[in-house]
Amino acid sequence: MRIDIITIFPDYFGPVGEDGQVGGSGPLGVSLIGKAAARGDISFRVHDLRAWTADVHHTVDDTPFGGGPGMVMKPDVWGAALDAVLGSTGLGSTRLGTTGPDTTGLDTTGPDTTGPDNTGLDTTGPDTTRLADPGLGEGDTLARLVVPTPSGVPFTQEMAAAYAAAGHLVFACGRYEGIDSRVVADARARMAVDEVSIGDYVLAGGEAAVAVIVEAVCRLLPGVLGNEQSHADDSFGGTGGAMSGLLEGPVYTRPRTWRGLAVPDVLLSGNHAAIARWQRDEALRRTAATRPDLIRRLAAGQDELDKRDRQVLADVGFPVDAENMAH
Ligand code: 6GU
Repeated sequence: MRIDIITIFPDYFGPVGEDGQVGGSGPLGVSLIGKAAARGDISFRVHDLRAWTADVHHTVDDTPFGGGPGMVMKPDVWGAALDAVLGSTGLGSTRLGTTGPDTTGLDTTGPDTTGPDNTGLDTTGPDTTRLADPGLGEGDTLARLVVPTPSGVPFTQEMAAAYAAAGHLVFACGRYEGIDSRVVADARARMAVDEVSIGDYVLAGGEAAVAVIVEAVCRLLPGVLGNEQSHADDSFGGTGGAMSGLLEGPVYTRPRTWRGLAVPDVLLSGNHAAIARWQRDEALRRTAATRPDLIRRLAAGQDELDKRDRQVLADVGFPVDAENMAH
């Protein structure tokens, strides 16, 4: 996978070499992601937005039309940066203009394809009228543009999985009051563009959000986490396993008793069915306590909660009555 990041703070991601490769101990260089990058499974490039400024002061922002506080990032600088980054890779900038079979890398065969799109992903094709014949070959890989912003759609595990299936991600880090809105409008004519928020709070810029999104995506790449099963039991259970839509329950390791606290007996029983049921019960209880919205979502779906699930929830004071649930 190829990941390009455009930012006015390239140092945030670690020391950047002449070719844009990041090294060292930044968020892209350590742990599993650092190892995947060292193996060549992920190729990171970090670009200084100011390289595409045309004035001596390397100005990237200007005052907002209509007044108001703060500064807005200039469309001409961002346009030049995106053109150069997409063009330099030979990937993506024209790829999505094809009208053939679905090449978005997104799973459109699962549920929800008939209802409104609730993935938060841009699944609309670009405006192909503006494109010359892309003439792309088999090996070309899709690019998605991701623009972190507190005004974006909430980033989810489902989006992380879709991004992990894309061959090429380009992140555009905004600062100040954001990027001139025409930059996203223009890019949408060429590629899938997602404006994404990582939570209901405001950061000073998109860089920390990019570190979060990249970590969520890269741990899903084949071979990065090591143990593929680890994904199935993740909180939110990305791919629809037994824990789909629930938070992960408590976990334990040796010693069996620590500071007077014993590991639950069932985990030592060797009864795998009983262990699985207990883990689901605990996941239900934890989710009901900390994220009742997730339980309501499961209850509104069909066949997500069985009779035992509903009993466990009722026992913790969270009655889930299918008839009373809002759809
Ligand atoms: Cl993605 N960017 C910024 N600047 N603030 C945020 C955010 C992103 N997500 C939540 N707050």
